[in-house]
Amino acid sequence: MERSLTLELVRVTEAAAIASARWLGRGRKNEADDAATTAMRAVFDTVPMRGTVVIGEGEMDEAPMLYIGEKLGMYGPNDPEVDVAVDPLEGTNIVAKGTWNASAVIAVADRGNLLHAPDMYMEKIAVGPAARGRVHLDASVRDNILSVADALGKSVHDVVAVVLDRPRHARLIEDIREVGARIKLIPDGDVAAAIHTAFPETGTDILFGIGGAPEGVIAAVALKCMGGEFQGRLIPQDEEEERRMAAMGIRDPKHIFMMDELVKGDDAIFAATGVTDGELMRGVRFTGRTARTHSLVMRAKSGTVRFVDAEHRLETKPNLVIKDDYYVV
Ligand code: FBP
Repeated sequence: MERSLTLELVRVTEAAAIASARWLGRGRKNEADDAATTAMRAVFDTVPMRGTVVIGEGEMDEAPMLYIGEKLGMYGPNDPEVDVAVDPLEGTNIVAKGTWNASAVIAVADRGNLLHAPDMYMEKIAVGPAARGRVHLDASVRDNILSVADALGKSVHDVVAVVLDRPRHARLIEDIREVGARIKLIPDGDVAAAIHTAFPETGTDILFGIGGAPEGVIAAVALKCMGGEFQGRLIPQDEEEERRMAAMGIRDPKHIFMMDELVKGDDAIFAATGVTDGELMRGVRFTGRTARTHSLVMRAKSGTVRFVDAEHRLETKPNLVIKDDYYVV
């Protein structure tokens, strides 16, 4: 993959973030998601790559754009052939309520290198580089937390685990509390939470729990860029989902997807732009004539992590990104 693709992809997440941020706190999660998707789709056409969506907004018959299999990019003869995973708005409810850590997110890898994760649940564990190789999805919560505490040189009481606040996690939460670690319960957004484990300043050490599988692959790309670790296990909810797993060639229902299966090869790019404020990125701020965005972009091969603080002049942005009718109620 071309190094320059890294910065091209930030333009895509910036556009999606600006468009969806118009819906901050307006209680309309679908509109916020549509705005992000439309803007993201439009800017992808200006990126020099030959992309195929492997994780997107749904199957072709259920999503008008950014559907699985859709071709993205300028498709020049020498442009790199890549798999693309998108989550135009990670945290639709977060934007609808105007709370924390929503972002527009993309992950890209060489063609064939991203796991085509079906839209079902995945049990996840994620840690940053300092605790890489020290956790396992099959180990007990206690062992994983003690091991992370040891790797980070912390008391177990100083370890912070992040968990989606869901009834299905009641036992997990009890187990974490029993070990004596602390917990951040989040209402949504486990991609951001997984990434936070790689940035000590966020105060997050380990992610546990069940969330979306597509989000799991995207988080794995981010952690690969950071040298962290992510493991996932698909959790089918019905026979149809079991069939989908079998169709992927997964015979063992307890199969754990390790980093190398989620993201193959030594290269991948991750880009995200904050839509609402978060521990790592600031949300979009409209200042009258401009919009200010804060993004994170990383590449696995080089390990470079960039934060991009950008100011966008709204009058010079194409109409497709900042549409007036986004204001219509
Ligand atoms: P959306 O942006 O699609 O609303 O997803 C947000 C999210 O919280 C993800 O971060 C997480 O993986 C998933 O939903 C959890 O699913 P559920 O809400 O069904 O527990």
